[in-house]
Formats: sequence, structure tokens, C-alpha cells
Amino acid sequence: MAESTPSGLDKEAIRAAARNLQDGPVTAGYQGDRQAVIKMLNDALATELVCVLRYQRHYYTVTGRDNGPIKAEFLEHATQEQEHADWLAERIIQLNGLPDFNPATLLARSHAEYDASDDVQAMIKANLIAERVAIESYRQMIEQIGASDPTTRHLLIKIMAVEEEHADDMRDLLG
Ligand SMILES: [Fe+2]
Ligand SMILES: [Fe+2]
Repeated sequence: MAESTPSGLDKEAIRAAARNLQDGPVTAGYQGDRQAVIKMLNDALATELVCVLRYQRHYYTVTGRDNGPIKAEFLEHATQEQEHADWLAERIIQLNGLPDFNPATLLARSHAEYDASDDVQAMIKANLIAERVAIESYRQMIEQIGASDPTTRHLLIKIMAVEEEHADDMRDLLG
């Protein structure tokens, strides 16, 4: 019988699962479908990068004396979407995958759309739609991962909570 620690964990199995050093953080006990999770994270990465570009476009082009606070909100969101992109790329590396930053296929892989509206209300509406798309896509990813990869699940929940704040911000700005 395998030797057990006082907690009831199987110490031999733990050490055996930790043996492949080249796998870095991924042990033999990893329960996720690694390739599927990496693909999912790369699609989310593409979405976040498109969201950075859309918010930056809006931030730089919005005009009007009264639109200062809206401009500031667009910049804050652009910065936070970039942060999400960084977290996703980092997680892909931890899972021994390759983050896909290829601009040629970015929009096709993104869940959310780019927008180059001139009118500030059209910008806000496009962002609200994109945030709701992001929320729903993260919700589905979290559901798919279930309990198989707790670290990725935790990351997706953390990002989704920020997207919910973003959607709320955009709704507040709707005219
Ligand atoms: Fe985001
Ligand atoms: Fe967002």
C-alpha cells in the first residue's frame, strides 16, 4: 500500500507526479485538457488585444469639451485589457503553450469586435456590447474548465469580474 501523509495524501504519488522537471509548473497529475485550455486562453488573449486596440482608438479620437471623463474611462479600460492580455500570456507559458500575438489572425480569433465609430455614444455602445461578449465568453470558459484546472479557473474568474465592472461603467455612460 502507498505511504500516506497524516493528511491522507499519497506522498509517493505526489513525488512521482512531480518528476518531469522540464514540464515546469505542470505536474503529471494536471487534470485539464492542456491543449484545449491553451487554445481557449489564446482566443481570450486575442479578444483582450482587440479590446486594447478598440479602447485606444476611442481614447485618442474622442473629442468634445464634456467628454473628458469618458476619455479617461476609455484609457483606464485599455490599460486593464492590456493587463488581462499579460496575465493570459503568462498562464499560457506556465501551461507550456505558446501565446499567439499574430496580428494577421487577431480579429478572426477574437470574440469581441473592433470599432472605429466617430460618435461617442456609438463608441460607448460598441464597448458595452464587447464587454458583454467578453463576460459571456469567460463564463463559458469557466464552465468548461470546471474543477480540472483551478489556477486557470481562478484567473478567468478574476478577469471576468473586471469585465463586469467595465460593462457597468459603459452602461452608466449610455446617453
Ligand atoms: Fe479584459
Ligand atoms: Fe473589459
